[in-house]
Amino acid sequence: MDPTAVNWNKEPILGALQQYVSPAPRQVEVLEVASGSGQHVTHFARTLPNALWQPSKLDLVCMQSISALTSALCLPNVKPPVYLDSSKSWGMWGLKPSALDLIININMIHVSNVNCTEGLFRGAGKLPPQSNVDFNDTLRLRNPAGGLRDTALPQQLAEVNGMCPERMVEMPANE
Ligand SMILES: C[S@@+](CC[C@H](N)C(=O)[O-])C[C@H]1O[C@@H](n2cnc3c(N)ncnc32)[C@H](O)[C@@H]1O
Repeated sequence: MDPTAVNWNKEPILGALQQYVSPAPRQVEVLEVASGSGQHVTHFARTLPNALWQPSKLDLVCMQSISALTSALCLPNVKPPVYLDSSKSWGMWGLKPSALDLIININMIHVSNVNCTEGLFRGAGKLPPQSNVDFNDTLRLRNPAGGLRDTALPQQLAEVNGMCPERMVEMPANE
């Protein structure tokens, strides 16, 4: 990836991430799918130290360069990169279902096959916080027709009914 492209888009992306990471009362765990050279993840980790960042890469050689960059910058909140191919089943991503609060992916969708994007979204849908999994189980016990809905559902229903959803607003967790 051209480093100037990273310099160009890292601040606007950081601005979007700050809305989710900065106000969190606890450490937020973030997975980056397709970390490239690691320049984004290290920039975000320096600026948002209350998040724990998990970089990932498809290419084993580049994984070493991400590790080198992370240690050169002394960033304790960046985990060693994991090998992750988003086109493969999320079960092969090597991550616990309860481990993540956020997943970010920058500049991969338009340079890879559509099955990589489909896999990315399938994986993202399967790696919710454990509290959500437990809450869903409780709801289903009470009412088998109940349960947490995919956030795409209200989005689709709004659009079908002539509304244009602007944004989803995160509510405090019931901890
Ligand atoms: C244009 S680079 C972007 C890298 C970085 N995110 C950035 O913005 O600098 C596209 C990246 O997508 C990765 N990639 C392509 N297909 C992938 C897949 N199926 N799973 C994970 N990463 C993939 C490539 O290894 C490459 O690093």
